[in-house]
Amino acid sequence: MKIQSINYNYSNYGYFKNLKSTTPSFGSNSRALYSKEGKLLYRTTTNFFRPDLDWERFGMFLREKYAHALKVNMLCYGCSDGSETLSILMMLKEFFGKDAKKFLPIVAKDIDKTVLYLAKSGSVEMDYHDHAAINRFTNNKFNDYFEQSNFVDIIDNIPVKLKAPLKKGIEYSYGNIMDDILSIPRKNTVLFCRNFWPYLKSPQERYKLALDLSSRLQDNCTLVIGSYDRIADVHFILSSAGFRRVKNLTNVYESGKSKLPDTQFLLSKCVKNTNQE
Ligand SMILES: C[S@@+](CC[C@H](N)C(=O)[O-])C[C@H]1O[C@@H](n2cnc3c(N)ncnc32)[C@H](O)[C@@H]1O
Repeated sequence: MKIQSINYNYSNYGYFKNLKSTTPSFGSNSRALYSKEGKLLYRTTTNFFRPDLDWERFGMFLREKYAHALKVNMLCYGCSDGSETLSILMMLKEFFGKDAKKFLPIVAKDIDKTVLYLAKSGSVEMDYHDHAAINRFTNNKFNDYFEQSNFVDIIDNIPVKLKAPLKKGIEYSYGNIMDDILSIPRKNTVLFCRNFWPYLKSPQERYKLALDLSSRLQDNCTLVIGSYDRIADVHFILSSAGFRRVKNLTNVYESGKSKLPDTQFLLSKCVKNTNQE
């Protein structure tokens, strides 16, 4: 497959109107994406066990919350190069052992076909922070999960190959969260929706997404966002849309019938923000 860079022009979008970029991952340097010929396409930000989620506590939360569920729908929108989905898979294996099966497959979606190509290739870039985070979380099992090329004197990201435990359990495909709401299961769903909200076109789109998710995720569901989303006030928007923050677990939310969305408030916010932009 020939790798092609996507054509979205995010410089007109949302929070970053004044910045110049052709992908949602501009201005960041955590991962480099190269064509087959070795040409740098662009850089994107993602990490293994990205530290804006307390993965340890999150694993315990899932264990308790879904103890009696026979099947849990694990979805990850904005999955990028797979670092996040692979972190979820390792977390499930470490916390649930054989029971991890009830969370699989992880349905992983992104609007960027280049990162999806990379994710599907089974080879991922990582740096020494990722290496340390994986060992910290898995109790030094990096070598059970990854085949490392050359981990001596790392000064840049290096490609690493997945070993058998990570080769199955994730299904990657194209998906735009804005178009996919109706395909998200209503019950026993854990939805990762992290670190891309500021790229959505406008405040109205962010409010609409929060409301749509709030009415969709009804029964025993969990929504996970990232700290980067906070710059677009997403934590605030989610509360107004009826989500409840999980106590002692930053960036994790639950929704349900107990609190109705404050639609009147959200509508007034949309009008206010339209005038500002
Ligand atoms: C900054 S990366 C974050 C990756 C990962 N979620 C994390 O937290 O490390 C944002 C990703 O979201 C994707 N994205 C942006 N808008 C999206 C949308 N509407 N639906 C699905 N993915 C989207 C981008 O293509 C990019 O790969």
